Amino acid sequence: MTTAAFCVQLICRVVSPIFGFDLLVVLTILISAILMMSAILRGCDGSNLLDDTANFTGEKTARPNLNSLRGFDVIDEIKAAVNSACYGNVVSCADILAIAARDSVNILGAPWYQVQLGRRDSLTASLNDANNDIPPPFFNLSSLLSNFQSHSLDLKDLVVLSGGHTIGLARCTTFVARIYNDTNINPNFDATLKNICPVNSGGNKTFPLDTTTTVFDTVYYQDLLQQKGLLHSDQQLFDGGNSETDDLVRYYSNNPYAFGEDFGVSMLKMGNLKPLTGSNGQIRMNCRRVN
Ligand code: HEM
Ligand SMILES: *[C@@H]1O[C@H](CO)[C@@H](O)[C@H](O)[C@H]1NC(C)=O
Ligand SMILES: *[C@@H]1O[C@H](CO)[C@@H](O)[C@H](O)[C@H]1NC(C)=O
Ligand SMILES: *[C@@H]1O[C@H](CO)[C@@H](O)[C@H](O)[C@H]1NC(C)=O
Ligand SMILES: *[C@@H]1O[C@H](CO)[C@@H](O)[C@H](O)[C@H]1NC(C)=O
Repeated sequence: MTTAAFCVQLICRVVSPIFGFDLLVVLTILISAILMMSAILRGCDGSNLLDDTANFTGEKTARPNLNSLRGFDVIDEIKAAVNSACYGNVVSCADILAIAARDSVNILGAPWYQVQLGRRDSLTASLNDANNDIPPPFFNLSSLLSNFQSHSLDLKDLVVLSGGHTIGLARCTTFVARIYNDTNINPNFDATLKNICPVNSGGNKTFPLDTTTTVFDTVYYQDLLQQKGLLHSDQQLFDGGNSETDDLVRYYSNNPYAFGEDFGVSMLKMGNLKPLTGSNGQIRMNCRRVN
């Protein structure tokens, strides 16, 4: 076993005593989102952890990340604990993200899956890439799908990974167009949301992405069946017909086990897209900075 692989086995043990279950649940949210974005942007290389410097504006201040990528402090703490447990800087931030996502999703009930290690961290980060590559919430199904496909992810990955919205919140600004314009929305749900998000104010107020927002379950899909998808992009996965996405949403809505398993499979696939390896990139000492 390599030093890095051995140290990685320590991560879970290092992390668990530091943070209680609740925080790990929260951590999953953030890390899943970070992983997804990072992977989709440039192959899961941790580039969105970088703070802005004089030379580039990092992804943390990019539009889609403003609210969703909280929890950088938690990543810093894990990295410091791992560096200390491993007597040095041998595990990359990208690997730490991949493993922390797996372990926290696992704690929530998703099956454990094998994460391949040896990723290296990028030397830069880019605001423009983040803004251009992360699919915006107003995308329709065909645009979401082509975005995923352009990153080697398929329709099933899209439906499964969107289930990441079983955890977390979104700001009014990301769904105000849906609640005032879309017709495929549950009327009571819509009324509640309009109360919280007046048409021209309150853009920073938040609402849960599914009805059981702190539990990793399949209520996200059950909500879609009732036209209670929070984001326009969420409800795009289900319109009550017999399309492939409709069938998958129905299937996952009452198959928590299959969802957990498939989530692991798609996370693994995503986490392995275009990783930096060999002598490309570096193992960052501090996830926020290039060494
Ligand atoms: C399919 C395309 C996706 C779109 C259009 C999308 C869009 C969004 C938007 C607009 C928000 C709210 C952000 C804000 O208020 O600033 C959000 C939050 C979130 N997304 Fe996604 N997302 C997608 C896929 C994913 C995937 C694949 C995952 C993870 C597997 C994920 C995990 C999350 C989480 C956990 C949050 C909540 C963050 C928080 O509470 O701060 N999303 N997403
Ligand atoms: C910015 O780039 C210059 C030239 O490549 C380099 O000397 C400098 O250290 C960089 N600054 C930061 C804050 O990364
Ligand atoms: C989806 O959106 C794209 C870009 O706005 C548009 O060209 C396309 O016609 C839309 N597709 C459907 C099925 O509405
Ligand atoms: C509703 O759609 C129209 C036309 O696309 C748009 O101009 C308007 O801003 C949308 N309403 C909200 C509240 O976003
Ligand atoms: C939302 O928060 C951002 C960042 O804190 C701030 O710049 C903006 O003015 C706020 N918008 C509203 C509508 O409160």
